Amino acid sequence: MVAIENLELGEKLLLLAPMEDVTDVSFRLIMREHGADAVYTEFISSEALIRQAAKSIKKLVTDPKERPVAIQIYGGDPEVMRDAAQISEAAGPDFIDINCGCWVKNVVGHGAGAGLLKDPDRMERMVRAVVDAVRLPVTVKTRLGWDQNTINILEIAPMLEQAGAKALTIHCRTRSQGHNGEADWTWIPKIKNVVSIPVFLNGDVKTPEDAERAFRETGCDGVMIARGAITNPFIFQQIKELREKGSYHQPTLEERIELCVRHLVHSCEIRGEQRGVFAFRKHYAGYLREVHGGGRVRSELMQVTSLERCIERLQEFKVKKETAF
Ligand SMILES: Cc1cc2nc3c(=O)[nH]c(=O)nc-3n(C[C@H](O)[C@H](O)[C@H](O)COP(=O)(O)O)c2cc1C
Repeated sequence: MVAIENLELGEKLLLLAPMEDVTDVSFRLIMREHGADAVYTEFISSEALIRQAAKSIKKLVTDPKERPVAIQIYGGDPEVMRDAAQISEAAGPDFIDINCGCWVKNVVGHGAGAGLLKDPDRMERMVRAVVDAVRLPVTVKTRLGWDQNTINILEIAPMLEQAGAKALTIHCRTRSQGHNGEADWTWIPKIKNVVSIPVFLNGDVKTPEDAERAFRETGCDGVMIARGAITNPFIFQQIKELREKGSYHQPTLEERIELCVRHLVHSCEIRGEQRGVFAFRKHYAGYLREVHGGGRVRSELMQVTSLERCIERLQEFKVKKETAF
């Protein structure tokens, strides 16, 4: 049984990665319903949280149905992170995740995210400060190192465990790789050798077969999936089917449209119609993937601003396709 401290989560965990502007409560709920064992909020700035910035406070909201859920926070200052962790804990998640992996310039420039890989002492102080400030388990998501010449994860990982982290997620790339190049999963068994807390593999799990291979080849305790869940919202369910039955089914057009509409409606409930419709556009490709005529409908939907018309167009497409078969 893989557990984050006392939080028992099952075996060979399937985790929905934190993704800014993607893993809002509507997407998280759908991923939980469709096989994810735990989900993470998009990252939330610790500085913004302590300023009580409305946009960031809103990101703390979780739904009881999505549990287990982690709130992910980021920042460069251990004391600010400590206070932000307490604010996050009060919002009632199951655990707190610290982002030590974000590669973008304006995060790294403030010594946050993957910037911490260059300053392991501060990273350690930050994790200790957060662990000491909250009762919930604290986990860390990080990368292999700053660049190919300074890979330091085998020193960082035991340090994080010592500082009190209860699980580690490793995006198997360096900061300088961003999202480019192949994720190097060969580090996972080496990391598992130097810590006794669960280690979750992240990076390039794009298909159910990739997930199987990740567990088989690395012995990881879980896989965390980001882009693969946008391009295929059924991926977690398919991984479980593959594991249990040796094969998995491709969702029917009806299943795709039904889930897409539900997700879209919830997105609008959370954000209001205009922002909800707009924010949802990144998801059409995943729901309409490999569906004949899906690309055309998606292009049309990019121009539509009313929720009612989006739903109508999706339903029309479903009916037309069904009679065509
Ligand atoms: C749109 C997008 C937003 C992301 N936002 C976050 C974030 O808020 N926190 C974080 O730790 N990682 C974030 N990431 C990184 C992912 O969690 C993950 O580490 C990375 O995409 C590699 O996994 P993948 O190959 O499954 O996509 C983001 C990635 C994408 C594509």
